[in-house]
Amino acid sequence: MSDNILEINNLSKYFGGLAAVSDCSIKVKRGTITGIIGPNGSGKTTLFNLIAGNLKSSGGSVTFDEENITDVPSYELFPKGLLRTFQIAHEFSNLSVLENLMMVPGNQSGEKLMTALFKPGLVAKEEAEVKEKAKEVVEFLNLGHLSNELAGNLSGGQKKLLELGRTMMVDAKLVLLDEVGAGVNRTLLKDLGTAIEKLNKEKGYTFCMIEHDMDFIGRLCDPVIVMAEGSVLFEGTVDEAKKDEKVIESYLGRGSKLKDEV
Ligand SMILES: Nc1ncnc2c1ncn2[C@@H]1O[C@H](COP(=O)(O)OP(=O)(O)O)[C@@H](O)[C@H]1O
Ligand SMILES: [Mg+2]
Repeated sequence: MSDNILEINNLSKYFGGLAAVSDCSIKVKRGTITGIIGPNGSGKTTLFNLIAGNLKSSGGSVTFDEENITDVPSYELFPKGLLRTFQIAHEFSNLSVLENLMMVPGNQSGEKLMTALFKPGLVAKEEAEVKEKAKEVVEFLNLGHLSNELAGNLSGGQKKLLELGRTMMVDAKLVLLDEVGAGVNRTLLKDLGTAIEKLNKEKGYTFCMIEHDMDFIGRLCDPVIVMAEGSVLFEGTVDEAKKDEKVIESYLGRGSKLKDEV
């Protein structure tokens, strides 16, 4: 098994004449929580969209677990254990926390009409198993007391925890988080950090997270990759990044600040 769970080689994405991601190469070590930072517009989200199969690349390759997954659509990556979190869709806000977890597509035969019609017993058994799994997930995330609460009534931070919980319904290997801490209050940000660390240590998840909050990054991530103009400018520890001349300049050039809030 390769040390690297993800290898990105010379990946590019053009929107018209604009190179959002440009000849970008990154290796993500298995078992890490790798931070991705960089000024606005440096191509971070586009990079995630390319990896997660939400956008087609203009060139280069992506390898996940030694398998070439370049331009493989997201629904095929999901069962392989590569996923990104998504905001709880509006339609799901009227479902409970537990039901939201149970809706995560898995291998349930319940989704197949024929099985539902001809083997209702099997469907019921699987539904019970999925419910059991969902209960484990809410306990793991300390959301047990909110199991029956409607997702729409959760606070912003609790919703983020639930989004993270959805990845646990399919036993992810690599999870991509795009600004999961944005707009989350300090207390819940701590819980979110704890959940990420716990998933990393206890379930062996590798994380790649785009984040603006340098304290949050500093607490969780090693290494951190700094992107600028669609490719990698720097890789190292957070402390090294904060001191690096090139990094500081790339932020200053954009009129952003690096110190606490990037
Ligand atoms: N769908 C799109 N169509 C055209 N341009 C896009 C699209 N998505 C992103 N871009 C452009 O690509 C560049 C990188 O954007 P993005 O990946 O969102 O950066 P970041 O997440 O680092 O802020 C920006 O200049 C942005 O305007
Ligand atoms: Mg972005």
